[in-house]
Amino acid sequence: MNNLFNNIRFWTRSFLLKLAKDLKPSESKGHVIRESKNLFQKEIKIPVFISFIFTIIAVYVMLVMGVGVDLKIMFAVLIFMIAVVVFFAAQIQNKEKAVLDDNDAVVLMCLLFINSLLTFQISKEYLSPFASPVSAFSIMAAMLLSLRLGGVYAVCLSLCVAFLNDMRFDIFLTMLGGAIFVVANVHAIRKRSDFINVAVKTVIANSVLVSMFYLVGNYDNFQFKYNLFYSVLNGIFSIVILLVCMPLFERVFSRTTNIKLIELSDFNNPLLKRLMSEAPGTYHHSIMTADIAEQAANIVGENSLLARVCSYYHDVGKLKNPLYFIENQTPVHNPHDNLNPEMSRIILISHVKEGVLLAKKHNIDNEIINIIRQHHGTTVMHAFYHRALEVGLRVDTEYFRYSGPKPTTKISAVIMLADSCEAACRSIDNPTATRIKDMVEKIINNKFIDGQFSVCPITLKDLELMRDSIISTITSIYHARIEYK
Ligand SMILES: [Fe+2]
Ligand SMILES: [Fe+2]
Repeated sequence: MNNLFNNIRFWTRSFLLKLAKDLKPSESKGHVIRESKNLFQKEIKIPVFISFIFTIIAVYVMLVMGVGVDLKIMFAVLIFMIAVVVFFAAQIQNKEKAVLDDNDAVVLMCLLFINSLLTFQISKEYLSPFASPVSAFSIMAAMLLSLRLGGVYAVCLSLCVAFLNDMRFDIFLTMLGGAIFVVANVHAIRKRSDFINVAVKTVIANSVLVSMFYLVGNYDNFQFKYNLFYSVLNGIFSIVILLVCMPLFERVFSRTTNIKLIELSDFNNPLLKRLMSEAPGTYHHSIMTADIAEQAANIVGENSLLARVCSYYHDVGKLKNPLYFIENQTPVHNPHDNLNPEMSRIILISHVKEGVLLAKKHNIDNEIINIIRQHHGTTVMHAFYHRALEVGLRVDTEYFRYSGPKPTTKISAVIMLADSCEAACRSIDNPTATRIKDMVEKIINNKFIDGQFSVCPITLKDLELMRDSIISTITSIYHARIEYK
């Protein structure tokens, strides 16, 4: 008896400790940062546990109300919900654990689920289940969260629509077919007008599946035409939902989508325009870095468009003092000649901080701001360290390090390497293929030995692939002569 009492006490205590831990809002790790005073850059601090519990209860109530309030049905909904939650949790646990570190993503995930269920109820009540815009919500999940989660949403939401409509298999398969078809092509969406393609694809997939069920005798002529009509309406609803909700969710939840990246890569952007006119050397360096980073990101399976855009903005902090950076100096004038190495160090370090401030002021996405902050990691400013030694200062290498942080994501490491390799290869006299190869290898090895990738999920294989890609891109940029021996 005493043993049982102790066990109960132990399990209660463990449960309460776990609950207290879960109730604490998790700190964002990796790609998301929120510090700005800007309302849209503030992280939504709703604990993950609360978000999930609230969503599960809300979805349960909506399903019960949609199917009918009855004890048996309530039990059936409970079984259905458990199955969906287990499937969803398994998918997140396996491949999308990082999402749980981002409060914004979790809130968005829950909001997408509740909103979609609400829309499905309205479709069922006033139109037809075939008008339920499963594709629109799945593509939003794919673009705002991840491709995998887009697929998971497609399955879960199709199941919910079918459950709301007497567990009809034809509805499940039609919704799933349309949603999977558009989610699989999510990479093709690069501008808002591409949402029309999403709608067309949804209509085509749904119509084909409705026709299939008609051919096997599931519908009579009237039902066939009725379902086809609502399949077309589904496409129209999808466009409206995507056009209204996507910009809103992108902004409120600070999501970086391909559409936003294309908008940011426009050279009419005020920040890029300033870079072009006030720091032309840095602008050119950023363009070259973008070419290198894009290829390297592609080869390690990262978003090449994100790499390109991050490269454009990585050095915007140099706008504060453009002439103190080598790429903007003339061969006859270097302002650092009149400064002591400690002062030069401060100016160099400040370009990272200034870049973050400028990017925040211009509402650049947090994912890009994070890369601006990490693009030098904690590397040593060797030139000024050696100058300090030359002028007789007794300084430690640690004093001449950038303030970091080190890259925490693969894409951040890509930008760091592309940036350093571009800058270093610029200084090579007569840049032949061999010299470029030696320089790139030296830079990557030094960064690795210096521990710059110690908190980054990058493998040696990735580094090898990136090395080859960077060598090949820089060589083709400089049209180097191949040295024959
Ligand atoms: Fe920089
Ligand atoms: Fe740079």
